[in-house]
Amino acid sequence: AHDYTLKPHPTITAPEGPLMVCILDGFGENEFKDEYNAVHVANTPTIDALRAVPRRFRSIKAHGTAVGLPSDADMGNSEVGHNALGSGQVVDQGARLVDIALETGKMFEGDGWKLISQAFADNTVHFIGLLSDGGVHSRADQLVGCLRGAAARGAKRLRCHILTDGRDVPDGSSIRFVEELEAELAALREKGCDALIASGGGRMQVTMDRYEADWAMVKRGWDAHVLGKAEHTFRDAKTAVVTLRGPEDAQVSDQYLAPFVIVDEAGAPVGTVQDGDAVVLFNFRADRMVEISKAFEYPDFAVFDRERVPQNLRFVGMMQYDGDLKLPANFLVPPPEILHVSGEYLVKNGLATFACSETQKFGHVTFFWNGNRSGYLDSKLEQYLEIPSDKIEFNKAPDMKAREITAASKEAILSGKYKVVRVNFANPDMVGHTGDLAATVRACEVVDACVKELLEAVDSVNGRWIVTADHGNADDMVQRDKKGKPLVGEDGKPLPLTSHTLAPVPIFVGGKGLPEGVVFRDDLPDAGLANVAATTFNLLGYQGPEIYKDSLLTVV
Ligand code: 3PG
Ligand code: CO
Repeated sequence: AHDYTLKPHPTITAPEGPLMVCILDGFGENEFKDEYNAVHVANTPTIDALRAVPRRFRSIKAHGTAVGLPSDADMGNSEVGHNALGSGQVVDQGARLVDIALETGKMFEGDGWKLISQAFADNTVHFIGLLSDGGVHSRADQLVGCLRGAAARGAKRLRCHILTDGRDVPDGSSIRFVEELEAELAALREKGCDALIASGGGRMQVTMDRYEADWAMVKRGWDAHVLGKAEHTFRDAKTAVVTLRGPEDAQVSDQYLAPFVIVDEAGAPVGTVQDGDAVVLFNFRADRMVEISKAFEYPDFAVFDRERVPQNLRFVGMMQYDGDLKLPANFLVPPPEILHVSGEYLVKNGLATFACSETQKFGHVTFFWNGNRSGYLDSKLEQYLEIPSDKIEFNKAPDMKAREITAASKEAILSGKYKVVRVNFANPDMVGHTGDLAATVRACEVVDACVKELLEAVDSVNGRWIVTADHGNADDMVQRDKKGKPLVGEDGKPLPLTSHTLAPVPIFVGGKGLPEGVVFRDDLPDAGLANVAATTFNLLGYQGPEIYKDSLLTVV
């Protein structure tokens, strides 16, 4: 068994008050400090003051191989970011594991593939997922790898159910991704495989809800993909996307397209899910696949009326999305194994934790933080609080639930009940994803004000704090050319950037209870998010576990 004993730090003693770990989701430290950097533009006196403290501010890597992604061209995201923050280790993440399984052909030898191949001869194989090359939840080239693999192994009928992105990739790019997929499907048809797009919709409207924020999204997906029912029907997917986006001057973005179903000449859906079919959810990332997985897999599912439940379904996920729930039971690629996370060290050493966020990021500071484990590691020592998120587009209310999160976390800090208080503010990320610059500036300002309150609370009880982020987003709100020059559209307006960025993130340490000599060391220029966990243990008065990346701190 793994030894979870924490050794005391040779010089840093335990704080009197708690340690607060505060994650400013999507708050990057970007090299472009111009009018499109909402973090830079925003009036943030609290963060500015933290930046000015010598050796207690630095930036750390939050993207690419530093967080287990396939390459340094991959932007960071909350899943891999919170995994690294919470586990203190860098593991190969889903995107990379699927790449390897396809390259080596291992995917086609696994049990999940064997299950779906039972449908190759006489039934249909359906692929449901996010169609883009964002690399956060899925990748279109991996979908193509699966489609080709199935066709080459005898699948007679393939149907794709596509969720348009515009969130991890530029808005409007869905048209190109649909064209590319259509070309691929046409090539498969040439070879005698009946391959078509059957349904779809925008990822923030259809199927990809997370943390049970809005089950109605999942029902819309079930209706379109499984039952072939949607208000809008089209003969082909490109027409669907172009039409649903609407006129130039009042365009609906790819993220929010209404659900649609593709129909034949007679108006019948071309690809409903029938008894005996195979269904593959081709996203590798878990959070936005859990709910639809339950709808497919749980016999007594009752959140909404499924109307017709296909029998004898061969249902798999690209990965197993939840190892505790064993959901789904069957999958194409085994998920990353993230062991000995910091939360386990905390509970095994009797250190009580409070974790809080609003719905949209709740699983980030719990499930992802704990290495993709659902529920408590030890319910006696942990308290997780979810503040319900609004169900609207977040640029319309950029304060989101930051004030409520602050109030609850402040209470936890002052209660004396917890050694660690972990907080995630969703605003810079969730508002940043809308591409609305003014609202994102506001999001950063709200969070700054909330951080101020929390730091004061920590100081009032002689605690310590770490303030950092999981990846960039708000720090760049415009698409740029290779030299960094902002790109403008045909109408002369700047092209919004809705996605995360490749930027590193800031990290600040401090608190009235932190001895003056505790500062960032200067010999770890390439440190990343995985170095934070050992840093938190130092701030609690312990050495970092040996299997963790080095702590960022030294004592001078
Ligand atoms: C989303 O799911 O909202 C985006 O694809 C990624 O955002 P997150 O990694 O910040 O959750
Ligand atoms: Co995000």
